[in-house]
Amino acid sequence: MRILSGVQPSGKLHLGNYCGAMKQHIEDQETHECFIFIANYHALTTIQDAEHLRHLTRDVALDYLALGLDPKKACLFRQSDVPEVTELAWILSTVTGKGLMDRAVSYKDKVARGLPASMGLFSYPILQAADILIYRSDAVPVGQDQSQHIEMTADMAGYFNNTYECEVFVIPKVKLNEAAVVPGLDGAKMSKSYGNTIDLFDAPKPVRKRIMSVKTDSTPVEDPKDPDSCNVFALLRLLAEPSERDAWAERYRQGGMGYGEVKKRLAELFEERFGPARERREALEKDLDYVEDVLATSGRRAREVACGVMVDVREACGIVKAAG
Ligand code: ADP
Ligand code: TRP
Repeated sequence: MRILSGVQPSGKLHLGNYCGAMKQHIEDQETHECFIFIANYHALTTIQDAEHLRHLTRDVALDYLALGLDPKKACLFRQSDVPEVTELAWILSTVTGKGLMDRAVSYKDKVARGLPASMGLFSYPILQAADILIYRSDAVPVGQDQSQHIEMTADMAGYFNNTYECEVFVIPKVKLNEAAVVPGLDGAKMSKSYGNTIDLFDAPKPVRKRIMSVKTDSTPVEDPKDPDSCNVFALLRLLAEPSERDAWAERYRQGGMGYGEVKKRLAELFEERFGPARERREALEKDLDYVEDVLATSGRRAREVACGVMVDVREACGIVKAAG
């Protein structure tokens, strides 16, 4: 089975990105063929400063490698190293009805939050579909907020196959993690655009400060509390072993426990999990040639697969070839 996913280089990666998407990508490398890419064409919809985009792109590569993505097992590349995806996005746009695009909620959300309503932002899901279909991906591990885009991708694959009476594209499936939506400090979905994140590679002190500011209710220390409606517990359960998670749930229900205590433990668990990755990242930052080499080598591999599929795409829709 071929797995593919992408992350936009549009800001610092946070716990929601990790638990909702990246953790799966890193686990999947052990059992599946994995293609993970840095969606820098997509990021142009929000980052319009060349130097900044170059830096953010490299940062996502550093983050993945530090978190344990092994370039010998998974293919980690830049979207733009396979420029054929933009060609496929155009071809897909010719078989996709505008009605489908009008139903995309992520576009409406982004415009409502003040992003410029560019054509790139509007047709973002078509480029995303091209990313997925050009590698004949079987499954796409993402957080819940992306599942509509994967359903739209399956629709677009079907439109093309039906229009040209062919089987060029594999119909992909979404693959959700158990942490489909990770809450942020305020209880809303953790997202860079809401300013409610806990960033993966921040130093321990600011991380602790952020964790201490997670919103809780005002139940007095001595009273019993409900773990299932608590933001701190929702985060702790992502990082603690099941036995520890159950013990904390029990302590919530018993009462006599303050939120400060559980926040402190959450900060420790965060450091245990991400401290070593932070150190690996610092070492990798001193070896940027290695990082560039990984991206370039993987990019060539990905491009070879994509170019093979594009031969079938062009043939199916009559962009020259055939004859004779
Ligand atoms: P952000 O909302 O911070 O801009 P992105 O849209 O760049 O994050 O998301 C990158 C990946 O991380 C996607 O697969 C997305 O589904 C996942 N993701 C982002 N935030 C969360 C969250 N709070 N919970 C679960 N998954 C998330
Ligand atoms: N839209 C995704 C996000 O915001 C990033 C992305 C681009 C992607 N192309 C993709 C994810 C293809 C999965 C598959 O997170």
